[in-house]
Amino acid sequence: MSPGQWTIAVLPGDGIGPEVIRAATSILQDCAREFGFRVNLIEFPFGGMAIDKCGKPLPQETLEGCLKADAVLLGAVGGPKWDSQPLDRRPEAGLLVLRQALGVYANVRPIQLRKPLRALCPLRLDPDTKIDFEIIRELIGDIYFGEHITEGEGQKERASDLASYSVPEIERITQFAFARARIRAHRVTSVDKANVLATSRLWRRTVTRLAAAASDLTVEHLYVDNASMQIVLRPDQFDVLLTSNLFGDILSDEAAALAGSIGMIPSWSAGDGPPLLEPIHGTAPQLVGMDMANPSGAILCVSLLLRERFHLPEAADLIEHSVDAVLADGLRTTDIAERGSRAVGGSQFAAEVQRRMRQAFRQRRPQRAQPA
Ligand code: IPM
Ligand code: MG
Repeated sequence: MSPGQWTIAVLPGDGIGPEVIRAATSILQDCAREFGFRVNLIEFPFGGMAIDKCGKPLPQETLEGCLKADAVLLGAVGGPKWDSQPLDRRPEAGLLVLRQALGVYANVRPIQLRKPLRALCPLRLDPDTKIDFEIIRELIGDIYFGEHITEGEGQKERASDLASYSVPEIERITQFAFARARIRAHRVTSVDKANVLATSRLWRRTVTRLAAAASDLTVEHLYVDNASMQIVLRPDQFDVLLTSNLFGDILSDEAAALAGSIGMIPSWSAGDGPPLLEPIHGTAPQLVGMDMANPSGAILCVSLLLRERFHLPEAADLIEHSVDAVLADGLRTTDIAERGSRAVGGSQFAAEVQRRMRQAFRQRRPQRAQPA
């Protein structure tokens, strides 16, 4: 990664993926101009559209392009068209192989109820209750990556999926979560099912051992069934929620609902190589081509990328403030519409974010804006 010059592999994917990625890349290019870095955006086929075009969800050129890039920006993959494909040939299989090939073991999903969206939270909140926590989901292990077997036929047909975790896998995700907690409120809740599963027992023992050496942190454990209840009962108790791949997948959709819409949530997957940025909303086939997709998740992926990878917190803040300003002005895509708000299409929403961001750019350089 040469300083100030970054190559981003762009994988728009399927469904609303291309629409939201268009919004995100445009914001990224604006930030590049303003903050004096260069981005080289290279688009690659991925997911269902890659199956149609090249016969597989993750073509070799896409994989190589991603591995060589400084970061990967992904829309979403999947859709009814490919649902009947065998598991290993579905668009989702390409996503799993990509995550594994990139080695992105830590998936960060920030769950934030943004101020202008408070009325959309399905919970009755006290005015001073904040929802702001981070789900740290282990991303390249667990039942997702064990053997998936279907055998026999008719009444004899049987299927199984193998879940497994090793000590080093649990240690690295735990250390990652601990590091996140150290730049937040120093609290970690580890979520497992240690009353039933062997993987969870190892998980809990490992987290407990590492917690003993992390006296600056408060580390607690919850069973996943209780955690899913606590998320809707008292979401403000969480700071960093650390969990396994499958539990993280489920709990993050539940938690996203608290933020007003899953369309608001970005994600950042980190490992030893290029990070992967993807909104968590999926392809939303029912919205495709209607300009109804909320681009916020993808736009906030750009802010995560700039903050966490390229160390440009000012640019990241500007993006987030611009999103908040559009929301506060009452401009909304349908998923976050509320009484008194003005419905806009996804492309207009993105353009409004961009307009406010450009205004903010002008404000941060008053001297250059003055005529000589
Ligand atoms: C997610 C998605 C994926 C997952 C699917 C599309 C394979 O639900 O990123 O949360 O289960 O990881
Ligand atoms: Mg999911």
